[in-house]
Amino acid sequence: MRIEELRNSFIEYFRQNSHAQITGAPLIPENDPTVLFTTAGMHPLVPYLMGEKHPSGKRLCNWQKCVRTGDIDEVGDSQHLTFFEMLGNWSLGDYFKEEAVRMSHEFLTSKNWLSLDGEKLFFTVFEGDADCPRDEETAGIWKECGVREDHILFLPKKDNWWGPAGKTGPCGPDTEMFYDTLLPKCSTHCSPGCPCGKYVEIWNDVFMQFNKTPDKKFELLKVKNVDTGMGLERTAAVLNGYSSVYETEKYVPLLRVIEDISGKKYGINTEETRAMRIITDHMRSAFFIIGDELGVKPSNLDQGYIVRRLVRRAMRYSMMIGIEKGLGEMLADLIIETNPVYEELGRKKEFIVEALTEEEQRFRHCLNKGMTEFSRIIPNIQKGGNDKIPGRIAFRLYDTYGFPLEMTEELAREKGFGVDVEGFEKAYKKHQEISRAGSEVRFKGGLADASEQTKKLHTATHLLHEALRKVLGKHVAQKGSNITPERLRFDFSHPKPMTEEEVKKVEKIVNEAIEENFDVVEEMMSVEEAKEKGAVALFTDKYSEKVKVYSIGGFSKEVCGGPHVEKTGELGKFKILKEQSSSSGVRRIKAVLE
Ligand code: ALA
Repeated sequence: MRIEELRNSFIEYFRQNSHAQITGAPLIPENDPTVLFTTAGMHPLVPYLMGEKHPSGKRLCNWQKCVRTGDIDEVGDSQHLTFFEMLGNWSLGDYFKEEAVRMSHEFLTSKNWLSLDGEKLFFTVFEGDADCPRDEETAGIWKECGVREDHILFLPKKDNWWGPAGKTGPCGPDTEMFYDTLLPKCSTHCSPGCPCGKYVEIWNDVFMQFNKTPDKKFELLKVKNVDTGMGLERTAAVLNGYSSVYETEKYVPLLRVIEDISGKKYGINTEETRAMRIITDHMRSAFFIIGDELGVKPSNLDQGYIVRRLVRRAMRYSMMIGIEKGLGEMLADLIIETNPVYEELGRKKEFIVEALTEEEQRFRHCLNKGMTEFSRIIPNIQKGGNDKIPGRIAFRLYDTYGFPLEMTEELAREKGFGVDVEGFEKAYKKHQEISRAGSEVRFKGGLADASEQTKKLHTATHLLHEALRKVLGKHVAQKGSNITPERLRFDFSHPKPMTEEEVKKVEKIVNEAIEENFDVVEEMMSVEEAKEKGAVALFTDKYSEKVKVYSIGGFSKEVCGGPHVEKTGELGKFKILKEQSSSSGVRRIKAVLE
């Protein structure tokens, strides 16, 4: 079964089971300050999992592009990827364990659907602890579906519990579905959950019943939800009997080109095969991040830093196998052709290739100089009897020669050295805002943190957006939004710095809208209707699905996941602290409510 067939089959199955298909969210989410990427289909749905009403109803399904860099060191084995797609179905207070499990079982094993051999499927469930009891119920449902007892395993929280994504939020026990590849066990302890590759995790049904609070308590959610995620590439590999995700049609054409250019053969030498896999994975990630609806170019900040790391790491591995040519240019058409459902890639091709080429040139330039510097450093450290590269030197390699920390670590490891990471971070903090590269999950479509102050700032963001359009013109479009309980940050397209007068004017208009004490009204409507009514939105939604539109008096109308305050009078006084450049053609405003 081809990947696109699997995608369609999943959606078809859940549509037949009364699920509404919704559009996946951008990879780069908005309105959550603690995380950088959408890492699972549930992130854009967090407000709805917390109790907000979803415009498309209580049973949803979709596919979602995801980036996870936590496992970057694992990439190159048979299953780990930094960019992957997830198929998902959700119940928002509708069905729970019984129906979720039955549907998963039917879709996996029925002759009409995936028709996987039940003998090769294994299921894990939560073994229970002080927060939540042993999940005998789910084990019982698997048994009723015909699963043998020795194919059901009870595992602890570290294996069978999902979320929350950030420090707080919706979470719960899960049941995971594994496929036995029939490879030999890696040890006598090898069983589903072991990362060796024998048992491939293909699907996860999460029973979301808790909200983890900031004081680390698990409180019951208002309603019980189901959140599931099926790995598209992994499941396709399993269905076709492939030994890795790289044998699917998303990777094979890319690997062929890499073989041609490098003159090396995939699958012969372990290190070279790993390098080829890393190049395809990282370049796909970089392509999708830059080409996202809210795409970013390589830089030293946030998501930009992650793409920089991915591109540079891919380049380093490409040099290892003798490729000198630019990877962006080389793989662009193939990545676009093999991903027909993401039309944004084709639309943004030029932008993506240009960004990649710039980064490749920049890196090549730095690399030669940096490598010379690196070879100078090692003997000195050896002489000093140290087994670690000091943090300040790792920072200099980063700051002056553009070496991502991970690269310095890898180079050091090759020479038998470590890196003083703490020292690096200290040096880094001294020079820049703390990189948020380690935390990587953000939500889109609504606020992940629905505290009163955050809601107020969210409503203020809508007012600010409209005021900017009034003062600067209709070319102003939101490029990013980031809200913490202390402040809002809003990025928007505008070619030049705002004058002091413009800033004052915008502030005044927002404060007048606050004084008007407008009602904030939430309505559900189709994308077409929202467009007709002149609502401001990204309009990336591809189906005639419903969206939520927030109107603030007659002042502003925006498609948004919410939540917001009920009246603008609650906001207090709006004040712009800073107007500065964010990137080329994009300005950034930081503002507070006093
Ligand atoms: N959110 C769950 C996961 O990503 C389904 O595994």
